[in-house]
Amino acid sequence: MVTTRTPLMAGNWKMNFNHLQAIAFVQKLAWTLKDAGHDYEEVEAAVFPPFTDIRSVQTIVDADKLKLGYGAQDLSQHDSGAYTGDVSGEFLAQLGAKYVLVGHSERRTLHDETDEVCRAKVNAAVRHGLVPVLCVGESLEQRESLEDPASVSVEQLKAGLADVQAGAEVVIAYEPVWAIGTGEVATSEQAQEVCASIRRAVSELLGEEAAANVRILYGGSVKPGNVASIMREPDIDGALVGGASLSVEDFSSIIRYRSHVGV
Ligand code: PGA
Repeated sequence: MVTTRTPLMAGNWKMNFNHLQAIAFVQKLAWTLKDAGHDYEEVEAAVFPPFTDIRSVQTIVDADKLKLGYGAQDLSQHDSGAYTGDVSGEFLAQLGAKYVLVGHSERRTLHDETDEVCRAKVNAAVRHGLVPVLCVGESLEQRESLEDPASVSVEQLKAGLADVQAGAEVVIAYEPVWAIGTGEVATSEQAQEVCASIRRAVSELLGEEAAANVRILYGGSVKPGNVASIMREPDIDGALVGGASLSVEDFSSIIRYRSHVGV
Protein backbone atom coordinates (compact mmCIF):
# COMPACT_ATOMS: atom_id res chain seq x y z
CA MET A 1 0.00 0.00 0.00
CA VAL A 2 1.41 3.40 -0.98
CA THR A 3 1.50 5.77 1.95
CA THR A 4 1.83 9.51 2.11
CA ARG A 5 2.48 10.00 5.78
CA THR A 6 3.87 13.47 6.40
CA PRO A 7 6.32 13.33 9.31
CA LEU A 8 5.22 15.30 12.37
CA MET A 9 7.63 16.87 14.84
CA ALA A 10 5.71 17.73 18.01
CA GLY A 11 7.18 19.82 20.82
CA ASN A 12 5.69 19.05 24.23
CA TRP A 13 6.62 22.03 26.38
CA LYS A 14 5.15 20.47 29.53
CA MET A 15 4.89 23.12 32.30
CA ASN A 16 7.44 25.49 30.78
CA PHE A 17 7.18 29.01 29.29
CA ASN A 18 4.62 31.63 30.31
CA HIS A 19 2.63 33.33 27.54
CA LEU A 20 5.26 36.04 26.95
CA GLN A 21 8.02 33.46 26.65
CA ALA A 22 5.75 31.45 24.35
CA ILE A 23 5.35 34.42 21.99
CA ALA A 24 9.09 35.03 21.86
CA PHE A 25 9.82 31.35 21.31
CA VAL A 26 7.29 30.84 18.53
CA GLN A 27 8.48 33.94 16.68
CA LYS A 28 12.10 32.88 16.90
CA LEU A 29 11.30 29.32 15.86
CA ALA A 30 9.29 30.54 12.86
CA TRP A 31 12.09 32.89 11.76
CA THR A 32 14.71 30.19 12.15
CA LEU A 33 12.71 27.75 10.07
CA LYS A 34 11.96 30.41 7.46
CA ASP A 35 15.63 31.34 7.17
CA ALA A 36 16.46 27.68 6.66
CA GLY A 37 13.85 27.46 3.89
CA HIS A 38 11.82 24.88 5.78
CA ASP A 39 8.89 23.37 3.90
CA TYR A 40 6.09 22.49 6.32
CA GLU A 41 4.44 20.32 3.66
CA GLU A 42 7.50 18.07 3.84
CA VAL A 43 7.77 17.91 7.62
CA GLU A 44 4.97 19.23 9.80
CA ALA A 45 5.86 20.97 13.04
CA ALA A 46 3.65 21.68 16.04
CA VAL A 47 4.06 22.96 19.58
CA PHE A 48 2.10 21.90 22.66
CA PRO A 49 2.17 24.84 25.10
CA PRO A 50 0.47 25.06 28.51
CA PHE A 51 -3.21 26.11 28.31
CA THR A 52 -2.44 29.66 29.40
CA ASP A 53 -0.20 30.22 26.34
CA ILE A 54 -2.48 28.89 23.63
CA ARG A 55 -4.35 32.13 22.91
CA SER A 56 -1.03 33.97 22.56
CA VAL A 57 0.35 31.30 20.22
CA GLN A 58 -2.84 31.48 18.15
CA THR A 59 -2.50 35.25 17.83
CA ILE A 60 1.08 35.00 16.50
CA VAL A 61 0.27 32.12 14.17
CA ASP A 62 -2.73 33.99 12.73
CA ALA A 63 -1.06 37.40 12.50
CA ASP A 64 2.09 36.09 10.82
CA LYS A 65 0.23 33.38 8.86
CA LEU A 66 2.58 30.75 10.22
CA LYS A 67 2.27 27.16 9.14
CA LEU A 68 3.31 26.00 12.57
CA GLY A 69 0.61 23.88 14.20
CA TYR A 70 -0.26 23.83 17.87
CA GLY A 71 -2.16 21.74 20.33
CA ALA A 72 -2.85 21.25 24.02
CA GLN A 73 -1.25 18.86 26.48
CA ASP A 74 -4.55 17.55 27.86
CA LEU A 75 -8.32 18.04 27.67
CA SER A 76 -11.36 17.14 29.71
CA GLN A 77 -13.34 14.07 28.83
CA HIS A 78 -16.46 16.21 29.37
CA ASP A 79 -17.78 19.00 27.16
CA SER A 80 -18.84 21.52 29.83
CA GLY A 81 -20.14 21.75 33.37
CA ALA A 82 -19.02 21.43 36.99
CA TYR A 83 -15.45 20.22 36.41
CA THR A 84 -13.32 22.77 38.21
CA GLY A 85 -9.91 23.23 36.65
CA ASP A 86 -10.65 21.21 33.53
CA VAL A 87 -10.56 22.49 29.94
CA SER A 88 -13.05 21.43 27.28
CA GLY A 89 -12.00 20.27 23.85
CA GLU A 90 -14.55 22.73 22.53
CA PHE A 91 -12.53 25.64 23.96
CA LEU A 92 -9.34 24.28 22.43
CA ALA A 93 -10.96 23.90 19.03
CA GLN A 94 -12.16 27.52 19.32
CA LEU A 95 -8.54 28.55 19.82
CA GLY A 96 -7.54 26.89 16.55
CA ALA A 97 -5.73 23.99 18.22
CA LYS A 98 -5.32 21.08 15.84
CA TYR A 99 -3.97 18.47 18.22
CA VAL A 100 -4.26 17.41 21.83
CA LEU A 101 -2.07 14.98 23.77
CA VAL A 102 -3.94 12.21 25.54
CA GLY A 103 -2.51 9.87 28.16
CA HIS A 104 1.03 11.23 28.37
CA SER A 105 2.85 9.07 30.92
CA GLU A 106 3.08 12.06 33.28
CA ARG A 107 -0.73 12.31 33.20
CA ARG A 108 -1.08 8.57 33.67
CA THR A 109 1.25 8.49 36.67
CA LEU A 110 0.86 11.92 38.32
CA HIS A 111 -2.89 12.22 37.69
CA ASP A 112 -3.85 8.55 37.77
CA GLU A 113 -5.29 8.61 34.27
CA THR A 114 -6.48 5.13 33.45
CA ASP A 115 -6.97 3.61 30.02
CA GLU A 116 -10.68 4.26 30.51
CA VAL A 117 -10.09 7.97 31.08
CA CYS A 118 -7.79 8.06 28.05
CA ARG A 119 -10.49 6.46 25.93
CA ALA A 120 -13.02 9.08 27.06
CA LYS A 121 -10.51 11.85 26.30
CA VAL A 122 -9.74 10.45 22.84
CA ASN A 123 -13.48 10.42 22.18
CA ALA A 124 -13.85 13.99 23.45
CA ALA A 125 -11.03 15.14 21.18
CA VAL A 126 -12.57 13.49 18.11
CA ARG A 127 -16.00 14.89 19.05
CA HIS A 128 -14.57 18.42 18.94
CA GLY A 129 -12.61 17.99 15.72
CA LEU A 130 -9.22 17.77 17.43
CA VAL A 131 -6.64 15.16 16.50
CA PRO A 132 -5.78 13.14 19.61
CA VAL A 133 -2.13 12.23 20.03
CA LEU A 134 -2.50 9.11 22.16
CA CYS A 135 0.65 8.39 24.15
CA VAL A 136 1.52 4.80 25.02
CA GLY A 137 4.61 3.06 26.32
CA GLU A 138 6.06 0.64 28.84
CA SER A 139 7.86 1.30 32.11
CA LEU A 140 11.41 0.13 32.80
CA GLU A 141 10.09 -2.66 34.97
CA GLN A 142 7.78 -3.83 32.20
CA ARG A 143 10.57 -3.65 29.62
CA GLU A 144 12.78 -5.82 31.82
CA SER A 145 10.19 -8.33 33.03
CA LEU A 146 7.87 -8.87 30.06
CA GLU A 147 8.66 -11.23 27.24
CA ASP A 148 6.96 -8.87 24.82
CA PRO A 149 7.25 -5.27 26.11
CA ALA A 150 5.35 -4.02 23.03
CA SER A 151 2.23 -5.66 24.46
CA VAL A 152 1.92 -2.79 26.97
CA SER A 153 1.66 -0.21 24.18
CA VAL A 154 -0.67 -2.43 22.17
CA GLU A 155 -3.04 -2.87 25.12
CA GLN A 156 -3.02 0.87 25.88
CA LEU A 157 -3.70 1.56 22.21
CA LYS A 158 -6.60 -0.89 21.98
CA ALA A 159 -8.16 0.59 25.11
CA GLY A 160 -7.64 4.19 24.00
CA LEU A 161 -8.97 3.74 20.48
CA ALA A 162 -11.80 1.32 21.31
CA ASP A 163 -14.58 3.72 20.24
CA VAL A 164 -12.77 5.46 17.37
CA GLN A 165 -14.16 5.05 13.85
CA ALA A 166 -11.88 4.11 10.97
CA GLY A 167 -12.08 7.53 9.27
CA ALA A 168 -11.03 9.63 12.29
CA GLU A 169 -7.52 11.07 12.30
CA VAL A 170 -5.44 10.00 15.27
CA VAL A 171 -1.72 10.12 15.98
CA ILE A 172 0.01 7.63 18.25
CA ALA A 173 3.12 8.49 20.25
CA TYR A 174 5.22 5.59 21.49
CA GLU A 175 7.10 6.84 24.53
CA PRO A 176 8.91 4.25 26.62
CA VAL A 177 8.56 5.72 30.11
CA TRP A 178 12.19 4.89 30.94
CA ALA A 179 13.37 7.10 28.06
CA ILE A 180 11.38 10.22 28.98
CA GLY A 181 13.57 13.01 30.30
CA THR A 182 16.31 10.56 31.21
CA GLY A 183 18.69 11.05 28.32
CA GLU A 184 18.33 7.33 27.74
CA VAL A 185 16.92 6.90 24.25
CA ALA A 186 15.51 3.63 22.94
CA THR A 187 17.63 2.22 20.13
CA SER A 188 16.03 2.80 16.75
CA GLU A 189 15.55 -0.98 16.47
CA GLN A 190 13.71 -1.14 19.80
CA ALA A 191 11.53 1.81 18.80
CA GLN A 192 10.82 0.35 15.37
CA GLU A 193 9.83 -3.00 16.82
CA VAL A 194 7.20 -1.47 19.10
CA CYS A 195 5.97 0.97 16.43
CA ALA A 196 5.50 -1.94 14.01
CA SER A 197 3.43 -3.78 16.65
CA ILE A 198 1.38 -0.63 17.16
CA ARG A 199 0.71 -0.35 13.43
CA ARG A 200 -0.37 -4.00 13.29
CA ALA A 201 -2.74 -3.37 16.19
CA VAL A 202 -4.23 -0.34 14.40
CA SER A 203 -4.75 -2.55 11.36
CA GLU A 204 -6.62 -5.14 13.43
CA LEU A 205 -8.69 -2.46 15.12
CA LEU A 206 -9.43 0.01 12.32
CA GLY A 207 -8.37 -1.70 9.11
CA GLU A 208 -5.42 -1.67 6.77
CA GLU A 209 -6.02 1.76 5.33
CA ALA A 210 -6.14 3.39 8.77
CA ALA A 211 -2.94 1.54 9.69
CA ALA A 212 -1.21 2.76 6.54
CA ASN A 213 -2.26 6.35 7.24
CA VAL A 214 -1.78 6.64 11.00
CA ARG A 215 1.30 8.54 12.08
CA ILE A 216 3.29 6.91 14.85
CA LEU A 217 5.74 9.16 16.67
CA TYR A 218 8.61 8.10 18.88
CA GLY A 219 9.21 10.07 22.07
CA GLY A 220 11.82 9.87 24.81
CA SER A 221 15.05 11.88 24.85
CA VAL A 222 14.89 12.79 21.15
CA LYS A 223 17.72 15.22 20.33
CA PRO A 224 19.24 16.68 17.15
CA GLY A 225 21.94 14.01 17.34
CA ASN A 226 19.65 10.96 17.40
CA VAL A 227 16.57 12.04 15.44
CA ALA A 228 17.89 11.14 12.00
CA SER A 229 18.57 7.51 12.86
CA ILE A 230 15.17 7.17 14.54
CA MET A 231 13.45 8.68 11.49
CA ARG A 232 15.08 6.13 9.20
CA GLU A 233 12.85 3.41 10.65
CA PRO A 234 9.90 2.55 8.41
CA ASP A 235 7.18 2.67 11.07
CA ILE A 236 8.30 5.88 12.77
CA ASP A 237 6.67 9.01 11.36
CA GLY A 238 7.92 11.72 13.64
CA ALA A 239 8.88 12.55 17.19
CA LEU A 240 7.26 13.82 20.37
CA VAL A 241 9.99 15.97 21.85
CA GLY A 242 10.10 17.23 25.43
CA GLY A 243 13.30 18.83 26.70
CA ALA A 244 14.81 19.54 23.29
CA SER A 245 11.64 21.34 22.16
CA LEU A 246 12.43 24.16 24.61
CA SER A 247 15.45 25.25 22.59
CA VAL A 248 14.85 26.95 19.24
CA GLU A 249 18.18 25.70 18.00
CA ASP A 250 17.54 22.07 18.98
CA PHE A 251 13.89 21.90 18.00
CA SER A 252 14.44 23.53 14.60
CA SER A 253 17.31 21.14 14.00
CA ILE A 254 15.02 18.19 14.86
CA ILE A 255 12.35 19.52 12.48
CA ARG A 256 15.04 19.89 9.81
CA TYR A 257 16.39 16.35 10.36
CA ARG A 258 16.37 15.69 6.62
CA SER A 259 19.13 18.23 6.16
CA HIS A 260 21.40 16.40 8.60
CA VAL A 261 24.50 14.91 7.13
CA GLY A 262 24.11 11.35 5.93
CA VAL A 263 20.29 11.23 5.89
P1 PGA B 1 11.86 14.17 26.58
O1 PGA B 1 10.24 14.11 26.81
O2 PGA B 1 12.08 14.45 25.11
O3 PGA B 1 12.32 15.28 27.47
O4 PGA B 1 12.39 12.84 26.97
C1 PGA B 1 9.41 13.50 25.89
C2 PGA B 1 7.98 13.60 26.35
O5 PGA B 1 7.72 13.45 27.55
O6 PGA B 1 7.05 13.83 25.54
